[in-house]
Amino acid sequence: MDMEKIVSLCRRRGFLFQSSEIYGGLNGFWDYGPLGVELKRNVKEAWWQDMVARHDDISTLPGAPASYEMTGLDCSIIMHPQVWKVSGHYDLFSDRMVDCRADGCKSRFREDHLGTSECPLKPSKKPGEFKACDLTEAREFNLMFKTIIGAMGTKDDEAFLRPETAQGIFVNFKNVCDSTRVKVPFGIAQVGKSFRNEITPRNFTFRSREFEQMEIEFFCHPKTSKEWYQFWRNRRFQWYIDHGLAEGRLQLRDHDPDELSHYSTGTADIEYAFPFLAEGEFGELEGIAHRGDFDLRSHMEGKLDPKSCPLEVEKGEDGKPLYKGSGRDLTYRDDQTNERFTPHVIEPSAGADRATLAFLCEAYTEDEAPDDKGNMKTRTLMKFHPRLAPMKAAVLPLVKKDGMPEIARELYRALKQKFPVFYDEKGAIGRRYRRQDEIGTPYCITIDGDTLKDKTVTLRDRDSLEQIRVKLDDVVAEVESRVR
Ligand code: GAP
Repeated sequence: MDMEKIVSLCRRRGFLFQSSEIYGGLNGFWDYGPLGVELKRNVKEAWWQDMVARHDDISTLPGAPASYEMTGLDCSIIMHPQVWKVSGHYDLFSDRMVDCRADGCKSRFREDHLGTSECPLKPSKKPGEFKACDLTEAREFNLMFKTIIGAMGTKDDEAFLRPETAQGIFVNFKNVCDSTRVKVPFGIAQVGKSFRNEITPRNFTFRSREFEQMEIEFFCHPKTSKEWYQFWRNRRFQWYIDHGLAEGRLQLRDHDPDELSHYSTGTADIEYAFPFLAEGEFGELEGIAHRGDFDLRSHMEGKLDPKSCPLEVEKGEDGKPLYKGSGRDLTYRDDQTNERFTPHVIEPSAGADRATLAFLCEAYTEDEAPDDKGNMKTRTLMKFHPRLAPMKAAVLPLVKKDGMPEIARELYRALKQKFPVFYDEKGAIGRRYRRQDEIGTPYCITIDGDTLKDKTVTLRDRDSLEQIRVKLDDVVAEVESRVR
């Protein structure tokens, strides 16, 4: 895998563009192009279908301690500022940054990345290794983006763009319990944008300042929480393999105790060997955290005083800020046993952009295939899982005459009712196949001279290059069964 080639293909074929590119771009922000938007939608849709809509397909549930329910939410990005105080983000969601004051450098680094960062001065060294390096002491930098609500713009109007979708789920726990018939154990899922003012956004979309998360908060009885934690670790790991990531490039890594977030009693990361990392290094795709009852308890305890919120900061006995919770009862009563308890939470938290990037990297392949004259040539193809491929099929009339385009267009219209399809009648057929291979279209359907005689078409497989004849009348059902 060559990251430069992948980035270049993404731009050339319309998967990803730099945000505001015509103005020189904006660091840490990206736009998905016509194919990228389809790919990312497919990633999110596959996740939602598997985790929420059809979560209890029996074949996908090995290892579940009991049957469970799933439901969804779509919460606002800007929430009451007290949410972030109570959640701990206001005080604790920060990285330590270091600046270099040296002339010609003036760069900013994350303190924990100093060992792997490169100094922009050439020949490249690690920050601090040049004589001229002049690094500051590390300073805390909160990653939440601030914004202002309303016209006055005073400190009281300050709010934050959410840095995770999870809190919207916690603060709606009671609403979901009261408005639906879900019973513990159950999960609430949400897909949506999150924002983090990353000190050093880098590695394409891997670390951006605006990104999408696919999160589940799974509420269970404290006694069974460890089993559910194991279940979700395994289930989420398998999901990436099922969608084409090579097992050898994936790992499930337990956090060391000093790595755990302030809320977590156990976390495992699903990591992928992204091509921009050094040999043997892995980057996080998803974290599965055992959050205990930290969030529900925090949002429950105390009483919110609307007049003093959001600015009031009380000091606890230990001198640390203590924020008031909502005072609402967020416990759960089991109506069979009458037991009342605060559910424990297992949180599988995935990044839609990181998953999309991993699928892009994994798909990139070069092989040898014959061109129009039968000569072997290097071919670039994107071996997407058919479920994720942006275009499921392409319809190609061999020539632009003899009624072939008319048949092809009719087939194209029929296929388009089912899924995204491409129509292409320009250029030599070999070149048209290559264009489809490069965007990862799993099947090409060619209308040729035989179609006119016996009403069959050629169905070409992107990966094996195998070509079979299929009846024109059967081709929609055939492609549909293959891509679903
Ligand atoms: N609610 C828990 C939570 O947000 P996290 O590990 O901070 O946990 C979860 O984030 C996932 O979100 C990560 O595994 C990653 O896939 C994605 N993510 C986090 N920060 C990101 C960033 N700056 N750019 C792209 N994706 C990011």
